Amino acid sequence: MDCLFCWSLSKPLYLLLFFCSFSCIANAAFNLSTISFDEGYSPLFGDGNLVRSPNGRSARLLLDRFTGAGFISSKMYKYGFFSANVKLPGDYTAGLCVAFYTSNGDVFEKNHDELDFEFLGNTEGKPWRFQTNLYGNGSTHRGREERYRLWFDPSKEFHRYSILWTAKKIIFYIDDVPIREVIRNKEMGGEYPSKPMSLYATIWDASSWATSGGKYKVNYKYAPFVSEFKDFVLEGCPSDPIEEFPSFDCHESDARLETADYAAITRRQRSSMRRFRQRYMYYSYCYDSLRYPVPPPECVVIPAEKDRFRDTGRLKFGGSHQGRKRRSRRRGRIQVSSTEYDPDV
Ligand SMILES: *[C@@H]1O[C@H](CO)[C@@H](O)[C@H](O)[C@H]1NC(C)=O
Ligand SMILES: *[C@@H]1O[C@H](CO)[C@@H](O)[C@H](O)[C@H]1NC(C)=O
Repeated sequence: MDCLFCWSLSKPLYLLLFFCSFSCIANAAFNLSTISFDEGYSPLFGDGNLVRSPNGRSARLLLDRFTGAGFISSKMYKYGFFSANVKLPGDYTAGLCVAFYTSNGDVFEKNHDELDFEFLGNTEGKPWRFQTNLYGNGSTHRGREERYRLWFDPSKEFHRYSILWTAKKIIFYIDDVPIREVIRNKEMGGEYPSKPMSLYATIWDASSWATSGGKYKVNYKYAPFVSEFKDFVLEGCPSDPIEEFPSFDCHESDARLETADYAAITRRQRSSMRRFRQRYMYYSYCYDSLRYPVPPPECVVIPAEKDRFRDTGRLKFGGSHQGRKRRSRRRGRIQVSSTEYDPDV
């Protein structure tokens, strides 16, 4: 796109073109083979609130006043690509959390690994926000949260959310836009996730913290809240978490993972990622020098970017809420206790 040309356009059209610069790349879709729900997943909790479509290609997770719902991959994977097309609930969604994440917290209670997408609802007319995070070997004292807005309304149509996890790096994608990349660093040691994990998808009542630090709760007048998942992708090496298979079993699938189109970020994707992070990221632990006087080792501190953030890790402009609180969170039967920071601005 010729940006000199953009400047001569009216603002709405310019904005449209700007948004297009993400979605245009999304047209160059990854080469993925999708599976049905039963080929890859099992119900986790909230039985009646997990509703499979008649053809088994999609599933809905509902939250009503009685329960949320969730599903889990039937196998655990050591390294993988976890992906689905997701549509989130619309209208009044304050207090809601929809999570799409990998974890082994049910097997390793004290030293679990985890990679998260967490979508946080909002009051009517206000947009969803989301955060990504990672934990390795029980590093729950060391949150690695980044928080963002979205460049679209996630309740209007499906978008693909993906987590790539290899021995070398982690990439979070929305559609084909990489939004976060973590390159494995020797100094991370055990804090780089390295034990087999399951994929989870859940919807739950996070009234105590999800929206404006718990100010706006789930309002069950608007229930049921429905999130829909489809076009499932699960690639990787199925592994036993306790008795790990000898690693040569995984060589072929590791190689497939590392040579897949989603394992390499093209120049165009890299500039989309930079644009996304400039425009939509409003908190980064890497810039939160109150919490981490020395940024954790995987942080790539970009001076021009750092200038835009306060020492609380929040944007200088557009961030007003600076409270920091300790909380525990609940995801169905999986209890993950960690330090949570106020997810809202
Ligand atoms: C897509 O992936 C399949 C295997 O999953 C492969 O056979 C096919 O050649 C790939 N297509 C392209 C265009 O790369
Ligand atoms: C992970 O944590 C366990 C228990 O806390 C510890 O024994 C082990 O050495 C750690 N592993 C790595 C790779 O740091």
